[in-house]
Amino acid sequence: MEIKRLGPIGAEIKDLDLTNLNEQESNQIKNSFLEYSVLVFRNQMLNPEQLKSISTLWGEPLVHPVFKGIDGHPEIIEIKNFGEKYHTNAHWHSDVTFEDSPPDATLLYSIVVPDEGGDTLFSSQHLAYNDLDSKLKSDLADKVAVHSNIGVLMLSGQDPKNAKTVEHPIFRSHPETGKKAIYVTEAFVKEIKGLESEDSQKILQTLYEHATQEKYIYRHKWSKGDLVIWDNRSVQHFAEHGYGDKERTMHRLTTSGSKPF
Ligand code: SIN
Repeated sequence: MEIKRLGPIGAEIKDLDLTNLNEQESNQIKNSFLEYSVLVFRNQMLNPEQLKSISTLWGEPLVHPVFKGIDGHPEIIEIKNFGEKYHTNAHWHSDVTFEDSPPDATLLYSIVVPDEGGDTLFSSQHLAYNDLDSKLKSDLADKVAVHSNIGVLMLSGQDPKNAKTVEHPIFRSHPETGKKAIYVTEAFVKEIKGLESEDSQKILQTLYEHATQEKYIYRHKWSKGDLVIWDNRSVQHFAEHGYGDKERTMHRLTTSGSKPF
């Protein structure tokens, strides 16, 4: 197995049959995941069963709380081209943070990719936290942010009156490495608890801009058969559009997680 660093975060793993891993290879993959936060495997031929089986390296495959899965595999959601206007993931986010225990890992597997556009960007929230102004770090150390699922409910045509919120620390500690990460995203966070609305929005905006600077980002240009796996505890991602009405079809799967602390 060969491991090649891709940028400030991210590594490509080559020469490995993901459908037939031995214990040593499984451990190397899990350790690389903790080290690089984003793993790329190219030229894969994976059916839904195999995708689910690989995901168990990180946890139980989860059924998405809002979006319906594909036939026979409720844990896998199909991401398609719904047009630029309805492109749901073109904002910085970590997956499903509006749940009490958001998923640890996401697996995204490309079935059809357009010949241009459709890149996914990944930003290291560990690097962003390390660089953050020390006064801001200490001022926000004990604060929590309120995350809401209202956006996904509306997108999926459900009643926004049923929206729910959860609170998570603004900075979370990685349960396996102990490293801290910024854990607020423009997609799901409504406010910082206990602050005036204007102050809350101002601070959140500062954090969003800081957390998504080029120097923390790996940009993935997709080819058919790529499998990309990322750590939602330490990474935010952004799915660019820019492929007009061309087809882009992906299978996405998340794995069980734990309550952020
Ligand atoms: C996602 O945001 O989970 C999907 C990203 C993508 O489609 O590139």
